[in-house]
Amino acid sequence: MLSKKDFIQMSLELNLFFGRIMKEHMIFMETGFLVKNSNLILEADQLKRSFEEILVETVALSNGVISQESIDSNEFITSFTLEAENITESLTGVCIDQDITLAELELTSNPDSNYPSNLEKQVFDLNNRAINLVIEVIKFKENVLNKLLDCNIYAALYPSLIEHILGEAKLYLQMLKDLQNRIKPKDNIFEQEIFWDTIMEEHVLFIRGLLDPTEKELIDASNNFANIFEDLIEKTKEATEKDLPKIIKETLEATTEVRDFKAAATKGIIDCKIKSILTPLLGDHVLREANHYLRILKSYIEDC
Ligand SMILES: [Fe+2]
Ligand SMILES: [Fe+2]
Repeated sequence: MLSKKDFIQMSLELNLFFGRIMKEHMIFMETGFLVKNSNLILEADQLKRSFEEILVETVALSNGVISQESIDSNEFITSFTLEAENITESLTGVCIDQDITLAELELTSNPDSNYPSNLEKQVFDLNNRAINLVIEVIKFKENVLNKLLDCNIYAALYPSLIEHILGEAKLYLQMLKDLQNRIKPKDNIFEQEIFWDTIMEEHVLFIRGLLDPTEKELIDASNNFANIFEDLIEKTKEATEKDLPKIIKETLEATTEVRDFKAAATKGIIDCKIKSILTPLLGDHVLREANHYLRILKSYIEDC
C-alpha cells in the first residue's frame, strides 16, 4: 500500500514523463501520414492536444512536490528539448506547445513540502483522465498498426515503430492503474530490464533506418548498440538473483553509452550536421527514454 506522499509523487512523476511521451508519439504519427489520410492526422492532433492539457495540469500540480532526483534525471526535458520542439514545429508545421517546456524548466523540488488530501484527490482525478486518454491512444495506435499491416494505408511510419509506441502506452496504462489501486507499479527488475533493453535496442534500429545511407559511421554504431542490447536481453532472461548486480552494472554502462550516442545524434540533427529523415524531437524523445531507464537502474543499485 503506497503512502499518500508516494502516491502523489509517483503519479506526478509518471505523468510528467509519460504524458509528454504520449503527446510526442502523436506528433510523430501526425507527421508520418499523408494528406490522403487527413482524418488520421486530425485524430492524432486532437489526441496530442488532449495530452498537452494533461501535461499542463501535471506541471502545475508538480511544483515543489516531485523529487529532486526526478528533475535531475533529465527524463522530463533535456537541454535540447526546447530547441528540438522549435525546429520540429517550424519544419513540419505541427503545433507544439512550448510554454509547457518553459514551465517544466522552472520545476523545483521542496523536501519540506506537505502533501495535503486535496492534492491527493486532484492527482487521483488527473490519473483517471490520463487512463481514459491512454485507452483512446492505444485504440488509435492499434487501428493504425492494423491498417499498415494490411497495407490499407501508406505512411512514413514503420509498423514496428507503432508496435513500440503501443508497448510504451500499455506500460503507462498499467502503471496508472496500479497507482490508482495504491500499488507500487512494476517492481520486478528482470521484467523492467527486458522491457527497457528491448526499447533501447529498437531505438537504435529506428535511428539506423532513418539515417541517410551515406551516414556509415552512425549506422555501424547503431548496429553495434543493437547487438549489445540483444546480448543483454538474452543474459537477463537467463539470469538468477545472484547475477543481478553484475547485470545491472553492465546494463547501466550500455545505457549510459547509448544515452550519450542519442545526445550526440540529437545535437547533430539540431545543428544540421547529420543527413537523415529524423526530426530533432524524435532524437530528444529517445534520449529522454534512456534517461528514464537510467533512473530506474540507479534506483535498483541503491537498493542492492
Ligand atoms: Fe516513445
Ligand atoms: Fe521508445
